[in-house]
Amino acid sequence: MSTWLEGALRAAIVTYGCQMNEYDTHTIASELVAGGHMLVDDPKDAELVLLNTCAVRGKPVEKVVSLLGELRKERKAGRDVKVGLMGCLAQLQEGKELAEKFEVDLLIGPGAITSVLPAIDELERGSSSGMVERRGFDPELHDLMPPAPTGLSGFLTIMRGCNHHCTYCVVPQTRGPEVSRRPEVILAEAEAMVAAGACEITLLGQNVNSYGLDQPGLPTFPELLRMVARTGVARVKFTTSHPMNFSSRLIDVIAEEEAVCNFVHLPVQSGSDRVLRRMAREYRRERYLDIVREIRAKVRDVVISTDIIVGFPGETEEDFEQTLSLYDEAAFEHAYMFIYSARPGTPSYKHFEDMPREVKTARLTRLIEKQKEHSLRANQALVGRELRVLIKEIGRDEAYVVGHSDQNHTVLVPRDQVTSMGLKQVRIEHATPHTLYGRVATPGSDAYVPLAMAS
Ligand code: 5AD
Ligand code: SF4
Repeated sequence: MSTWLEGALRAAIVTYGCQMNEYDTHTIASELVAGGHMLVDDPKDAELVLLNTCAVRGKPVEKVVSLLGELRKERKAGRDVKVGLMGCLAQLQEGKELAEKFEVDLLIGPGAITSVLPAIDELERGSSSGMVERRGFDPELHDLMPPAPTGLSGFLTIMRGCNHHCTYCVVPQTRGPEVSRRPEVILAEAEAMVAAGACEITLLGQNVNSYGLDQPGLPTFPELLRMVARTGVARVKFTTSHPMNFSSRLIDVIAEEEAVCNFVHLPVQSGSDRVLRRMAREYRRERYLDIVREIRAKVRDVVISTDIIVGFPGETEEDFEQTLSLYDEAAFEHAYMFIYSARPGTPSYKHFEDMPREVKTARLTRLIEKQKEHSLRANQALVGRELRVLIKEIGRDEAYVVGHSDQNHTVLVPRDQVTSMGLKQVRIEHATPHTLYGRVATPGSDAYVPLAMAS
């Protein structure tokens, strides 16, 4: 093995799934560097490949299985590489079985990332026979050293875990009960991000609205949001929210605080009360729509997005039509739409029968049509208007740079129009259902970050 320091490894982390996982990857990367290891981008160059996995639906699990298969093949062909399975899948029985099948070296659950360095040490010393395993929920996790701040925009985890029991969801099993981080730790992390040049902070939690409820003496989420908004950061976003404890106080803070973006992601999952009950979502259609109406009444130019699951077991045509009609009533500007995926270990997997794939895909197609219609109408209404956009990177089409508006629209600007990344006023000229195209309205009036540095 060719290492640059005794015991140090060239490590690559491959990340699947949600923003919480991206934040965790960032934390794990900081820990690895602190432990003397070196990070490489390409798993092909690594002596240790860590897979930070997602287990929420079957598709991301299939991707992990295929990568595990490739790595096993390469090892059989003589490549000297250690493999770690981390993230939500690692906490499930399904993950443990896969780890054994594919002869994984490290198995570390999302609640045990504090143990990544000791686990690697144990593996290197060869003191245990077979796989080194660290799972369960470390109470020290929320005190973990924050990751080194990077870039114009960053994630900040304010709490971990979930106390809800939606019948389709693995998260309560994989991430355990809700634990809020202390406000002083959160604020210090936010201030460090701002000092390092962040214009945007996105607060993360499986359900940020229940922040502080697990321990006495903590601020509520609206109070915490106000504190972060006053650190001097230009923009604060947060995700994700459960409608059950989305309060009027929170809506007031979004409306009042300049830095809090006029953007709310509020998963509804279904428009049918019968399905919501079977999903064990603790609200009903009318309560959800009341929240949407209050947000739209109080927050100017707000954008509301949602998550919807189609084809939940037992969903009838009538139930699905309720979802379509709720979409019209809420007039979502954007939605993430998922086909129900039966996940081993969840109550809906145990108790309900999955429906035929064709029925689910046909409903998804109809929902996507609905979404396109609403998103296009909402986006077209912005043509001719100016939006503040945080330009962060060069686009897939390199003729453009890409950014997000305060309301989270994806905005493309011709690359030859900008000399720097950062916040710009952009005049919108053209709209598609998913993208806005525009030009910088006031060149030179923006926060300056040289293009080369930001990319
Ligand atoms: N099948 C399909 N979608 C799911 N989600 C969570 N679990 C499942 C599942 N078993 C979706 C929900 C959630 C989002 C993060 O993923 O819509 O809000
Ligand atoms: Fe899963 Fe429901 Fe918790 Fe969201 S609120 S993480 S969907 S159990």
